[in-house]
Amino acid sequence: DKNGFEHFMLKEIFEQPGVIKNIISNYADNKLFNSNNSFSKEELQNIDKIYIVACGTALHAGQSGKFAIEKFTKIPVLTDIASEFRYNNSFIDEKTLLIVISQSGETADTLGALEKGIKAKAKTLSITNVEDSTIAKTTDKSLYCNAGPEVSIASTKAYTAQVALIYLLSLDMAKKLKTIDDEDLSSILIELKKLPEKIEEILQNVDTIKNIANELKECQSMFYIGRGPDLITAKEGSLKLKETSYIHSEPFAAGELKHGTMALMDSSSKVIAVATQSNLSKKTATNVLELREKGVSVYSVGVEGDVLLEKNSNYTVFIPETLDVLSPILTVIPEQLIAYYTSLAKGIDVDHPRNLTKSVISE
Ligand code: F6R
Repeated sequence: DKNGFEHFMLKEIFEQPGVIKNIISNYADNKLFNSNNSFSKEELQNIDKIYIVACGTALHAGQSGKFAIEKFTKIPVLTDIASEFRYNNSFIDEKTLLIVISQSGETADTLGALEKGIKAKAKTLSITNVEDSTIAKTTDKSLYCNAGPEVSIASTKAYTAQVALIYLLSLDMAKKLKTIDDEDLSSILIELKKLPEKIEEILQNVDTIKNIANELKECQSMFYIGRGPDLITAKEGSLKLKETSYIHSEPFAAGELKHGTMALMDSSSKVIAVATQSNLSKKTATNVLELREKGVSVYSVGVEGDVLLEKNSNYTVFIPETLDVLSPILTVIPEQLIAYYTSLAKGIDVDHPRNLTKSVISE
């Protein structure tokens, strides 16, 4: 049931404030974590590194969450593509925590990666949206997104639910390890609780997003750029645009442009720049200006009040201000909508992109 929406993808995008609100209030009411889904203080004290392994959008959720885990717990986090991790040399032992993320909980490569971790005696934790899935049943601990069934092939609400769960997992771990003080913890919680209404605010202002979609619909190829957490969101926005709009899109570290790819840029090029991090957005805004000087059309996603970014870009979509570490959950919303409206403008069946299936159960 599309609940009055034209497509499942749009319905699921609009469900995100409710999904996130549910997860955060469960945490605030001490109902999110228990001994079935989180490690004890003693177990955590024995962990010296974390691997986060997944495929596609679920991997991007892990890569966004890495920043929070490292910031709050001080434990180094490595991330890897499941189909690579399972055959690579990796450094896994009984002091490793392997976190696997999967909407369906059935992805073959993610399960293969998990089996490799178990063999090497790693502690394991899964984040899935299907409670009795194979992956959820195979890990020591399993966290459940509770986002409701995701029907659209392009993942949206499962992604933001996964990111929210990693934020809260990192706080749970930091609290047990005493790597965060009470004051910081409560100010982060205050900001977390404001996220659902900030997502709502983005969802209510789609005019600029529709203009961008209209300019993208004719292009064959484009780029997404960002720095730090914004690079991860650029990867996710780029993947979403590819799968729903069939536009070749390449995500790129903004600072890498000058090391080769800039040679491709001319007045027919289009770039989406993600620039929300307080310590990095000025640098990306400078890259935007350099692109504009070559005639490139640049559309950006930035934080409300960023006049420099707005001045340098053709169009800017603003997200409300939040903590840098929490912004990925907001930044992805305009990107999901850009993908949706570009697909719509091209007349593509957005819920069923060609050649893709919802659950990938072969390598
Ligand atoms: C993209 C998308 C895929 C999945 C990937 C992993 O929108 O949906 O990239 O994220 O196939 O699937 P799960 O999360 O079920 O393991």
